[in-house]
Amino acid sequence: MIDEPEVRAFAAQFRAFLKAIEESVPAPKPTRLHQRLADHLGVDPTELPVTTEGFPAYDHANVQAAMDAYLAGDEVNSDLVGLIGGGRDHHNFADLVNNARRQGQFDIGTVDYTTVTVGVGRERACVSFGLYLISEGDQRLAVLMRLSNYRGGALETLVEVMAASTEAGQAFLHRIRAEIVKHHICRGQVLSFEPWEYGAGMGPLRFHERPKVDAADVVLPAGVLEAVHRQILGVAEHRERLLAAGHHLKRGVVLYGPPGTGKTHTVRHLIGAQRDATVIVLTGLGVQYIREACNLARVIPPALIVLEDVDLVAEERTVSYSNPLLFQLLNEMDGVAGDADIAFLLTTNRLDLVEPALAQRPGRVDLVVEVPLPDAAGRRRLLSLYGVSAHLDADEVESVVTKTDGYTGSFFAELSRRAELLAATAGDVRTGMKHVTAALDELSRSREAAASSGRPMPPPVPGTPYV
Ligand SMILES: Nc1ncnc2c1ncn2[C@@H]1O[C@H](COP(=O)(O)OP(=O)(O)OP(=O)(O)O)[C@@H](O)[C@H]1O
Ligand SMILES: [Mg+2]
Repeated sequence: MIDEPEVRAFAAQFRAFLKAIEESVPAPKPTRLHQRLADHLGVDPTELPVTTEGFPAYDHANVQAAMDAYLAGDEVNSDLVGLIGGGRDHHNFADLVNNARRQGQFDIGTVDYTTVTVGVGRERACVSFGLYLISEGDQRLAVLMRLSNYRGGALETLVEVMAASTEAGQAFLHRIRAEIVKHHICRGQVLSFEPWEYGAGMGPLRFHERPKVDAADVVLPAGVLEAVHRQILGVAEHRERLLAAGHHLKRGVVLYGPPGTGKTHTVRHLIGAQRDATVIVLTGLGVQYIREACNLARVIPPALIVLEDVDLVAEERTVSYSNPLLFQLLNEMDGVAGDADIAFLLTTNRLDLVEPALAQRPGRVDLVVEVPLPDAAGRRRLLSLYGVSAHLDADEVESVVTKTDGYTGSFFAELSRRAELLAATAGDVRTGMKHVTAALDELSRSREAAASSGRPMPPPVPGTPYV
């Protein structure tokens, strides 16, 4: 039997022992972070509200640009300090400050920066964990800017504003959003959205040189390029007049045709021709970022959104199981206001797959254009464009034109290269009909080989390894 009074006495003694230990350990001293904030804000920072806004991680450079623009204001003074301490990524700003005061954790230290790509061959350093102490007139703000995912989910560019009131915090974030629009790094650039290889969500933006393809270098049947031009470029050029007359600017064009006929080539020409537009290119599964693309286009028009090879996603389901990506894409196109100068340019090899979706969502696409195999006149132009005709007389040109019926534009670019290579390999100074003919034969043979290997494979026999 346990003697109860004895147990009680022991418990009381033990409690007293613990208390004595507790009292012998000095309370942690608040860190300099707390003091610095208190000095700057004029009050105990643990009593102030923090207003937070998360921007996508890929907007990091935009938030930085907006911050810099804000800080460059006449009345604005600021100091940037670092905030250090293990586990800081798991705490929001208010927690960090509370811990600095009560637990003696987290202190002033060095600022963390990350290098972010902001254009072709252009990078800039952006604050990835840093505290701005801002004074503007009588107003005092402490703004923590960082790349973090402490709220769960994908990495965000987080801006946490400690201010005298929530309204003041919101007003600051409002200014930052306005500055982002003004100083957007993507404005007028050509970029693509790609999946992030390290997890869910969108990867960093990729910037591309604006391609330069002359209209004369795009070989299409008469009137085709003109029609696409009118729709994509013409509307942009006459934007004010169209708007004044109550017409919408948003437009959609589909280019369809077999592989290698010049759809991407035409797209590249259009991107080059629309010099002031922001261009966002989504290819294949990249179409899942259509919402982000539309959001960006809305912020910095005029914009051209290119959706390459949309047939690849006609049956692909990502977000919603009942809704293929292609429908999602058309819905997002719908969400863009008609008066926004935003053009959608879709390409596909398989209009048959894409058409049902277009038919169910009329009004998204104003123009469907075939990019066909070149006719005789087209092949003549292609031979000349890719420099093959230069080696041939008129009869020889006509004979190649006849022999290449059914061949694509991409074939002619390759034919030129192959003929040149054969002549060089043979040590012939001049390229002539015999090299062109040999190149034609070689390419035709490999074309047939490719076509035959493209046949569907027989299903594997059960039980045998599939190799
Ligand atoms: N109509 C054309 N006029 C001029 N050059 C062409 C044409 N078609 C193809 N080419 C040449 O062939 C290359 C490949 O063509 P392109 O990538 O535009 O084909 P595509 O229609 O987009 O094919 P895919 O359906 O496989 O994407 C081009 O970069 C260009 O050099
Ligand atoms: Mg293409």
